[in-house]
Amino acid sequence: MDDRPIGMFDSGVGGLTVARAVIDLLPGEDLLYLGDTARGPFGPRDLAEVREFALEIVDWLVGQGVKMVVVACNTAAAAALAEAQATFSVPILGVVEPGLRAGLRATTRRHVGMIGTAATVESGAYEAALERMRSDVVLESVACPRFVEFVESGETTGAAVAGVAAEYLAPLRSSGVDTLILGCTHYPLLARVISDAVGRDVTLISSADETAFEVADIMSMTGTRRTPTTTTAGSHRFVCTGDTESFQRLGERFLGPEVAGVEHLEWSGRRGPGVSFR
Ligand code: DGL
Repeated sequence: MDDRPIGMFDSGVGGLTVARAVIDLLPGEDLLYLGDTARGPFGPRDLAEVREFALEIVDWLVGQGVKMVVVACNTAAAAALAEAQATFSVPILGVVEPGLRAGLRATTRRHVGMIGTAATVESGAYEAALERMRSDVVLESVACPRFVEFVESGETTGAAVAGVAAEYLAPLRSSGVDTLILGCTHYPLLARVISDAVGRDVTLISSADETAFEVADIMSMTGTRRTPTTTTAGSHRFVCTGDTESFQRLGERFLGPEVAGVEHLEWSGRRGPGVSFR
């Protein structure tokens, strides 16, 4: 048993979709969530820059005393998961493999779509994970760069976002995928719009639930799960690097009342002594 919090991060509010699943599955666990809203979105950035950001954030979370880190951002996981796992001693889990695994379980015709940020699609992280899993599923990846902006501004419905979705998803609609992996943790917040655009017969897959189950498995394996008999609810701390008010407003809407008292974190631009990720 380990009473330290689970650390989690994203460029903004998208990772809250994963946080919701973790809170629901593991209500006794403490959670520390960082939204790097001052530097998000990560999707349009260079992967090397996202890698720097991701390692810096993991370093911060580890410094805060978390017992594990969930990279609740596909872009950051694509850019830095392996390196973060090799650099830090706490278990570090991404969202790419859990999402892909759930997609492979769901597909009926072995034809799967994946939508994500430009950086995630360009990284080829899903294709590489598919190869590691030795799967013969056909995977078609499409970047949906404007989706994150819509979510971060709270515009999750309406003609503008529906129009953009129809445009982005037209190729997947016509190619006949039966399953669509939401390869960005912001996208479950646009699930209805996406489903309407791609067709209701296509099964949408969010990595959130699968990731939460993997968090539980890792804690069981490492003996770090809080005593399951506890009736005390875990505490949840939310920190963001940008405007706390808008993070709290969106957080309460997307995750729920647990997002209260959002704290501000200012990056100093300097890492601790001896820490170098170059
Ligand atoms: N939610 C993130 C992801 O899963 C980040 C999106 C972004 O910052 O562009 O990729």
